[in-house]
Amino acid sequence: MKKLTFFILLILSTSLYAQKFEGLALTPPMGWNSWNYFGCDVDEAIIRQTADIMVTSGMKDAGYQYIVIDDCWHGERDNLGFIQPDPERFPSGIKALADYIHSKGLKFGIYSDAGWKTCAGRPGSRGYEYQDAMKYAEWGVDYLKYDWCNTEDLNAKGAFMTMRNALYAAGRPIVFSLCEWGNNNPWEWGKDVGHLWRISGDIAVIFDGEEGHGTWTSWGVLQILDMREGIRIYAGPDHWNDFDMMEVGNGMTLSEDRAHFTLWCMMASPLMAGNDLRNMSQETREILTNNEVIAVNQDPLGIQGFKYLKKDELEIWVKPLKEDELAVCFLNRGMATKKIEFNWEDHFIKDDFVHKEYKFDQTEYQVRDLWIKKNIGTTKKSYVSTIASHDVKLLKLSPVK
Ligand code: GLA
Repeated sequence: MKKLTFFILLILSTSLYAQKFEGLALTPPMGWNSWNYFGCDVDEAIIRQTADIMVTSGMKDAGYQYIVIDDCWHGERDNLGFIQPDPERFPSGIKALADYIHSKGLKFGIYSDAGWKTCAGRPGSRGYEYQDAMKYAEWGVDYLKYDWCNTEDLNAKGAFMTMRNALYAAGRPIVFSLCEWGNNNPWEWGKDVGHLWRISGDIAVIFDGEEGHGTWTSWGVLQILDMREGIRIYAGPDHWNDFDMMEVGNGMTLSEDRAHFTLWCMMASPLMAGNDLRNMSQETREILTNNEVIAVNQDPLGIQGFKYLKKDELEIWVKPLKEDELAVCFLNRGMATKKIEFNWEDHFIKDDFVHKEYKFDQTEYQVRDLWIKKNIGTTKKSYVSTIASHDVKLLKLSPVK
C-alpha cells in the first residue's frame, strides 16, 4: 500500500510539475540533420565525419550547433525494454558518439516517434516514453526530434506532452522538436510543449512544385512558404514554426538554394542543414555560412517575417529586427529574370503584430545588401536591381542616426 501511494505521488508530481525546459532555443536552433540526404543510410562514421566538418568548414563558427541523427539509428529493445542502437551501424554505442560530438564543442540530437513504430518502421516510443527519456539523458542527448507516424488514435497534444514530461523527469535539458507536420495545429498548443514544431509534410528537393509518394506528398520550398498563412503570431523566442530541414546543397540551382536559405532566415525557421557536409561545394558552404544572412534568422527579437507585397511573381517579404532595423527580401518566383525599381518613399510598412512602423518618407535608412555584404546607399533613392528566376535580393535597413 505504501509503495502504491509512493508510486501514485511520483507520477502525480512528475506530471503536475512537468514542463518543457525553458530557454533552450531563444533563437531558432541551428544544426544538421541526417534525413534529407542520407535517409536510413546512417552510421557512426558519417555522423563523426559530419561533426568534424561542421567545425573545419566554419559552420560551427557561423552558429550551427546540433548534429541530429534522424530515423534508423535504432536496434531492438533489450529484455527490460530499453532501446539500443543498431549494433552494426553504431557499434561504439550512442554514448561514445555523443561524447565525440561534445568534444568538438557541438551538441547531439536524436530521433524517435510518438507511435509504436517510427516512420521507417523502427521501434517508436509509445509506452516507453519514460524509459527512452532516461536513456537519452544517460547518453547525453541535447535535442530530440519526435515524429508522428503510426500513432493511430493518439491525441497529439497529449502524446507530445507525455514525452515532454518524460524528458523533464529525466532531468537533462533537451530541446524538444515536435514533428506532426501541422496536422493538429501545433502552433496553437506547442509553446508549452516544445521548442519548435513542423508546420508541413516533408520538404523535397524542389523549389516550386510537389512530389507524390502514393499516400503522402512532399513539398517544394515555395509550397511550404505559402502553406500556413497567419501562423507567424505563434512563433517567438523558445517556440518556433519549423519549415523543415533544409535542402541547400542537395540539387537545386544556386539561385534556388540562396532563395531557400534566405526565406528560412526571413521566417525565423530553425536552420538545420540537410546536405552531405563531407562533399559540399564552396558555393553551398558560402550560402550556409553567410553570417549577415544568418543574423537575420538569429535576431534576438525572434519575429517571423511576413509578405508585405505581391505583384505578379515578385514578392516582398519583411522581418522586423532589433534596433528598429528591417530585413527586406525581394523574391522572384517566376521563370524569367525581373528588373525592379522600388521607391522606398512611396511605401509605409506596418507590422500590427509587433506594433512597428517603417515610414520611409519620414525616416532615412541605410541600405545594405546582405549577399554581397555591401552598403548600397539609403532609402532616399530607389532600389534598382535585377533578380534572376527563383532568386532573391536580401537587404537590411538601418535607421540613419
Ligand atoms: C517523417 C519526418 C521526416 C523524417 C522521416 C523519417 O517523414 O517528417 O522529417 O524524420 O519521417 O522516417
